[in-house]
Amino acid sequence: MIIKSVNLETVCGVRSVLPENNKPEIAFAGKSNVGKSSLINSLVNRKSLAKTSSQPGKTQTINYYNINDALYFVDLPGYGFAKTSAVLREQWGKMVDRYLMSSKQLKVIFLLVDIRHEPSQNDKQMYEWMVYHGFDPVIIATKLDKIKRSQINKHIKMIKDGIGAGPETKIFPFSSLTKQGKDEIWEYIEAVCGL
Ligand code: GTP
Ligand code: MG
Repeated sequence: MIIKSVNLETVCGVRSVLPENNKPEIAFAGKSNVGKSSLINSLVNRKSLAKTSSQPGKTQTINYYNINDALYFVDLPGYGFAKTSAVLREQWGKMVDRYLMSSKQLKVIFLLVDIRHEPSQNDKQMYEWMVYHGFDPVIIATKLDKIKRSQINKHIKMIKDGIGAGPETKIFPFSSLTKQGKDEIWEYIEAVCGL
């Protein structure tokens, strides 16, 4: 996809009214620090449109990026951020849940996991939530540059088994450093959105 325009159109906090868009939405979910905002930047060829940080908990709002007036990327705050208080964690859960349950335009939820690690309990819950609610689960295994090429298949199997994915579940290995996997992810987005 040729990116002609991209802008952060709407930012929602816990008390915000969520926008009712009339274009397809693609959401990026996953643990804090897994690389959601970095992936969005890579997909739209911008270095720091979505703010990233080596400290987990950077994205705390639901951010809607309008891409070419054709679709939205929805950057979600990450889960499993240990330093947050229980109250904030609960508010996070409610905010993200409310979005995932109420959006009428949500076409894909990408679930991001770090390719190096076994999926966490939260990752499994998120995966099961997606299946239960009728989404085709799609996993993006991030930070591909951190493992040896010879280890990729082993790690993909570890993630699929760990999260309880069926053989039909799509999993895209991706690196925001090398951009490996970017074209495959865009192809998938275009196919789902009919672009
Ligand atoms: P929250 O907003 O806290 O939920 O985090 P996030 O999932 O948006 O993560 P973010 O994109 O901010 O990235 C977290 C850290 O991981 C940053 O220091 C990034 O530079 C780094 N990072 C993200 N993707 C990759 C990758 O593919 N490879 C490497 N080596 N580092 C990455
Ligand atoms: Mg983020």
